[in-house]
Amino acid sequence: MNQSLNDKKYAPIGVFDSGVGGLTVAREIMRQLSLERIVYFGDTARVPYGSKSKETILRYSRQIIHFLESKGVKAIVVACNTASAYALEELRPEMRIPIIGVVKPGAKVAAQVTRNGKIGVIGTEGTIASQIYTEMIQRHNPHAIVVGKACPLFVPLVEEGWLKDPITIEVAKRYLASFQETGIDTLILGCTHYPLLRSVVRDIMGEGVELVNPAYETAQGLKRLLEECGIANDGAQPEGAPMYQFYVSDAAEKFKSFANSILPCEIKEAQLIQIEE
Ligand code: DGL
Repeated sequence: MNQSLNDKKYAPIGVFDSGVGGLTVAREIMRQLSLERIVYFGDTARVPYGSKSKETILRYSRQIIHFLESKGVKAIVVACNTASAYALEELRPEMRIPIIGVVKPGAKVAAQVTRNGKIGVIGTEGTIASQIYTEMIQRHNPHAIVVGKACPLFVPLVEEGWLKDPITIEVAKRYLASFQETGIDTLILGCTHYPLLRSVVRDIMGEGVELVNPAYETAQGLKRLLEECGIANDGAQPEGAPMYQFYVSDAAEKFKSFANSILPCEIKEAQLIQIEE
């Protein structure tokens, strides 16, 4: 390998999630940072994180970060909202490379786009219970009113591929009914899977409610971070280095077919690894 191509800027970005959902974030990074290589880990053996304790999520996230570091990544994106809520700030001081999550960027954009200061958040039970979105939004707008709603059935419905199924629409109507009378004009899709239900949520909430997908803003934030640290890829790739690599802790074939249904590129393989070791 050419000496200059050993430079940190040619190292990949590590992205992780509890499973397939973080592919919505990886997809956004692929779109916005097309020169960056990615190593993705989906914890398909231990999903869901949304109903687990903080201690467990912290332990899982630490293992995954060590794995990604062993792959030589230059920065890490915590694509999972629940892990961003419970593990990110605790793990940051342990790290020698930059790490970002999805909550801060999503909260920031919601605080900017709301006109009336009333913001809804949908997410897993863990993310909503943590109140992290409320805290982050109020850092930008201390007077904002934030209304959260956990929507735990959305994750299995998306994983089943029932993106526009009548059952999904019915479930969404039930969950989103709790926003009636709240007057929110902005709704954060605060879980990796929810951007895939965007059109169902849009139809129920109506055009008057702005939907915020934190993945978009996270990719923007990553771009700024890489530039500030002087480690953004300038387009030269080390010879033979794969652009995208995928690792999972279980059900590699299922992961692969889900990935191929939502990513802009075809993935040939998802490698199974033992993350506990
Ligand atoms: N990735 C999770 C999140 O964004 C959703 C799936 C899960 O519960 O693990 O919070």
